[in-house]
Amino acid sequence: METAEIRRRFLDHFERNGHTVVPSASLISPDPSLLFTVAGMVPFIPYLTGQQAAPWPRATSVQKCIRTQDIDEVGKTTRHGTFFQMNGNFSFGDYFKEGAIEFAWDLITRSQDDGGYGFDPAKIWVTIYHDDDEAAALWKKVADLPEERIQRRGLIDNYWHTGQAGPGGPCSEIYVDRGPEYGPDGGPLVDEDRFLEIWNLVFMQEEITDVRAKDDFRVVGDLPSKNIDTGMGMERVSYLLQGVENMYEIDQVYPVIEHASELSGKRYGAEHDDDVRLRVVGDHVRSALMLIGDGVTPSNEGRGYVLRRLLRRSVRAMRLLGFDDPALPELLPVSRDAMKAAYPELESDFARISTIAYAEEDTFRKTLQTGTQIFDLAATETKQAGRATLAGDTAFKLHDTYGFPIDLTLEMAAEQGLAVDEEGFRRLMAEQRERAKADARAKKTGHGDMSAYRQLRDIGATPFTGYQELSTDTRIRGLVRDGVGVPAASEGEIVEVILDRTPFYAESGGQESDAGTITADGAELEVLDVQRPIKGLVVHRVRVVRGEITTGQEVLAVVDPEWRVGACQAHSGTHVVHAALREVLGPQALQSGSYNKPGYLRLDFSWGQALGPETRSEVEEAANLGIRRDLPVSATYMPLEKAQEIGALALFGETYDEEVRVVEMGGEWSRELCGGTHVAHSSQIGLVTLTGESSVGAGSRRVEGFVGIEGFRYLAKERTLVSQLADMLNVQPEQLPERVSRLVGQVRDAEKKLTQMQKSALGAKAAELAASARDVYGVWLVTHEMDEGSTADDLRSLVLDVRGRFGNERPAVAASAAAGPNGRPVIVVAANEEARRRGVTAGGLVKAAAQVLGGGGGGKDDVAQGGGTDASKIAEALGEVEHVVAETVTRGS
Ligand code: ALA
Repeated sequence: METAEIRRRFLDHFERNGHTVVPSASLISPDPSLLFTVAGMVPFIPYLTGQQAAPWPRATSVQKCIRTQDIDEVGKTTRHGTFFQMNGNFSFGDYFKEGAIEFAWDLITRSQDDGGYGFDPAKIWVTIYHDDDEAAALWKKVADLPEERIQRRGLIDNYWHTGQAGPGGPCSEIYVDRGPEYGPDGGPLVDEDRFLEIWNLVFMQEEITDVRAKDDFRVVGDLPSKNIDTGMGMERVSYLLQGVENMYEIDQVYPVIEHASELSGKRYGAEHDDDVRLRVVGDHVRSALMLIGDGVTPSNEGRGYVLRRLLRRSVRAMRLLGFDDPALPELLPVSRDAMKAAYPELESDFARISTIAYAEEDTFRKTLQTGTQIFDLAATETKQAGRATLAGDTAFKLHDTYGFPIDLTLEMAAEQGLAVDEEGFRRLMAEQRERAKADARAKKTGHGDMSAYRQLRDIGATPFTGYQELSTDTRIRGLVRDGVGVPAASEGEIVEVILDRTPFYAESGGQESDAGTITADGAELEVLDVQRPIKGLVVHRVRVVRGEITTGQEVLAVVDPEWRVGACQAHSGTHVVHAALREVLGPQALQSGSYNKPGYLRLDFSWGQALGPETRSEVEEAANLGIRRDLPVSATYMPLEKAQEIGALALFGETYDEEVRVVEMGGEWSRELCGGTHVAHSSQIGLVTLTGESSVGAGSRRVEGFVGIEGFRYLAKERTLVSQLADMLNVQPEQLPERVSRLVGQVRDAEKKLTQMQKSALGAKAAELAASARDVYGVWLVTHEMDEGSTADDLRSLVLDVRGRFGNERPAVAASAAAGPNGRPVIVVAANEEARRRGVTAGGLVKAAAQVLGGGGGGKDDVAQGGGTDASKIAEALGEVEHVVAETVTRGS
């Protein structure tokens, strides 16, 4: 059964049983305490804890997950994968243990003809938390499981939590017996290879905190309701139902391994080390694809670093397998094709995804080239000096100058039997960070040492006067430069100013910070940025334009009124667009993030598919109708509980104070928790025009637009563009689509014709070449250099054509080489059956020729392809082909 089908059956089953199907959240965890989404329940944490009312009593999802703590184990054992999909069903205070067990049992044991997974009930075992007699009784009642197939375990195995403070509960795990060939009998207590866990049912009923280990935490108390959270490992079910051995061999992963094996000539299943590398490639390429798909980009920290490691590890694994060419352009499309049935956005977004991945491979290849030389030299020196440890400063230099991640150095060293002085490396890194800190602090508030801010904050929070006024008499409470308090600052300096009170809005809730000035006797400061690096303290980053300022000085803080009008329009505009989205698409279209500044807005929201131009226009119209209705805008403070009661929309995963500010526009129409600045009436927004809609990961879309006068300017510019085009094509604007589509059709026809002509030219060329074949000891040989810029495909069609013209009467070989589009040489060779019978193989010839070209390659006996780095050696390489042919046949005779 295909993975896509397993997924479909899961969602169907639960939807038919009253569950709302919720699209997968992003791999970037909506919960700020987790780097990635690690389980299906992560997006539902606020509902499980009761922090937010659940929008539905029952939900189901197939959640994309990443767990990377075992990244080094990937491929070594067959149990670890970084990316996986967790199928889950959730009850928020609705059904509990009995329902969860019934639903699960039904789905796994119902016959495949009847829409289930068709596992044999006699092969199912379960585990329960040691004192959970209720679960044991239910397993007997619902599934008729005999006592001996219900095993009891303690906290480590049968209590589940995320590893952070939050919800938790005892769980019951479902196992499938794969049979005696996989290990001893006796259930999961005895052998977790033979008995494979496929599904975990968690009875979420407690709130826990102080989590130090799986079995070391403190229970705060009961959750407000008894909930169900389950997780079925889709990859595991896939490999059981697909009759393969492990998760790397399922339909969503194996095609990548297969292609990697073709490229490298290493057969999967032949040799353990190569198998590990192939599995690393299969796993990591897919994980990287999914991460980039969800908006992660390679970098040196956090999520970006994980992605970088995944990409670089797969590229290096390919090198170790013997494939030196760029690997991702070969492998990423294969992974996309294997995954697109479940994640169609991978296809529509592939241009972006692949650009990011290929660029990273490019950078890494350059890095590797230089870094490997340095490394090899250092490794040889180390060994010659009789030492077993590579110096810390070598590792540091590799990292600092050549971008070698330390893990890579460790891996490469291990391959040479060397250790690395990691402590020395870390010391040097720490020193360097110290140096970098000063720079970073000057660049942006909020990095590095916070103690100066804390001291100022201890005096009291900064009251915000900006809701009522734009200009406030106030006093400089403190000045901070590079994280250190200073008494004064003078002309030209950039410094941070903390005021007793301020009308400046600090960036938050998606709204950009205010611009403006701070003035005093003879001094003028330009406000560059306003942040709240610690709760309650507003910090203005300013440039001293004129004069000098000192701590304690009285000043006048003035927000640029024009800026603020634009900021209010943009922020209110964002609320209007949010309301319009929910009006048109339904209440599920919830905002998940936003950004706005004068003239511009951007809003991310949960939604499974692209809006399409019509829906987008509908949303735009609903937004502008809302603006035109001149709705009054109000802001009211109330307890969080009250706000939730009246349905004010809060941002997913955000934590709010007990007392919150609720901004309403037209009462219920738009009601959000928000600290931002707003217009007084919706008509003051002017105009909202949506300019784009795109994906920001599965299940999440982004709209962007212009607001107010910027909205008008945008439309005016578009109108000019349309009339320019109409003039150019000499038609009325409304005839443009038809005219352009006709033109596109013509171009396409012309291209088709051109391809045909190229093909017949190639055919003629092939005939000409075949006629010029040389007889090399009884083998017809054609060698030929094609024009620069020819692709491997061009070469391939030519040699296949030439070979075809010889039939099988007598041995024939055709070889063609060219400097490819990137200037690097490519060679393709084809040998007919008769030639192969005489021991002349395409793979062997390519290998010899590629060596001359300074590269590698190989492939099958009948057709093979290779490449190299030195295009000036093409003639020599073709000569080598002739040489090897001659040598092979004369040796044979
Ligand atoms: N949240 C549970 C798990 O991840 C279902 O295993």
